[in-house]
Amino acid sequence: MKAEKILIIGANGQLGSALTVELQSRFGIANVIASDINFHKTPEGQCEILDVTDYDALYKIVNTYQVTQLYHLAAILSAKGEASPLKTWDFNIQTFFNVLEVSRLCKVEKVFFPSSIAVYGEHTQRVNAQQYTNLIPTTVYGISKVAGENWANYYFRKYNLDVRSIRFPGVLSYQTLPGGGTTDYAVDIFHKAIKQESFECFLNPDTTLPMIYITDAIRAAIDLMAASTKQITVRTSYNIAAMSFSPKQLSNAISKYYPKFKITYKPDFRQQIADSWPISIDDTKAKDDWGWKSEYNLEQTTEIMINNLKPKQLFN
Ligand code: SER
Repeated sequence: MKAEKILIIGANGQLGSALTVELQSRFGIANVIASDINFHKTPEGQCEILDVTDYDALYKIVNTYQVTQLYHLAAILSAKGEASPLKTWDFNIQTFFNVLEVSRLCKVEKVFFPSSIAVYGEHTQRVNAQQYTNLIPTTVYGISKVAGENWANYYFRKYNLDVRSIRFPGVLSYQTLPGGGTTDYAVDIFHKAIKQESFECFLNPDTTLPMIYITDAIRAAIDLMAASTKQITVRTSYNIAAMSFSPKQLSNAISKYYPKFKITYKPDFRQQIADSWPISIDDTKAKDDWGWKSEYNLEQTTEIMINNLKPKQLFN
């Protein structure tokens, strides 16, 4: 069997840092190249500084390592993106075009592109959002993801470039700090709880959103990339679901560990973004096509988050 050479773009981020470790353990440390514009902490193994807006720099890395699989995880997220819509559009789209073109020319075998629940918006069914439905997002991040999904589909049909994609719910992880998303309150809240501080939430108590624990999220990406080509019938992006909860429900789960934990609510512009997203997702297609199944619920995730953040807190 030919050895894979896997390039991760955005390896310093929330998905990228956990994915790097998992891919290294599955494919061998020498076969994974972690790249980002900078690293808070240099990962073990092969590592490249890469500004993915630089086409030539990307080409050089893909060509030098003879990359066979590429995960493109660099993007400006929903809430941060609203501060500078045109910059967000340019970054999210230009970097994806660089990835698509370099992958096509260097014959990368498989490309992973993360999409998001942010593709949904006006006129989407909010309960059990369907795989095929209206995609009229309200954020520039969402618009860039809808466009990205369509370009993924286009490159597959026109050039047979094997691009695979998942619409991620909000991702919960302890490895990195929140990075400008609307669902990031659900990560930030844990950092406050373990410091025994109160948390001011920028969403209303009953704002229910689809979420997923990091281990499920990266397993979904890896499983999709491992599926045979004929299993994949969706070339835009797959819906996946794991759990749905509101800030109030999350705070109640945390209170079991920190009975004095206090949450207050001060909704800001992110409330409108959250209100435009579905409460829950129909992931039948991912289940049927490549066997997707989530493993972590709110209670398990809460326990893992607290147990992993608590020791870190001791050293801060
Ligand atoms: N977690 C992302 C965000 O909130 C959605 O994909 O921006």
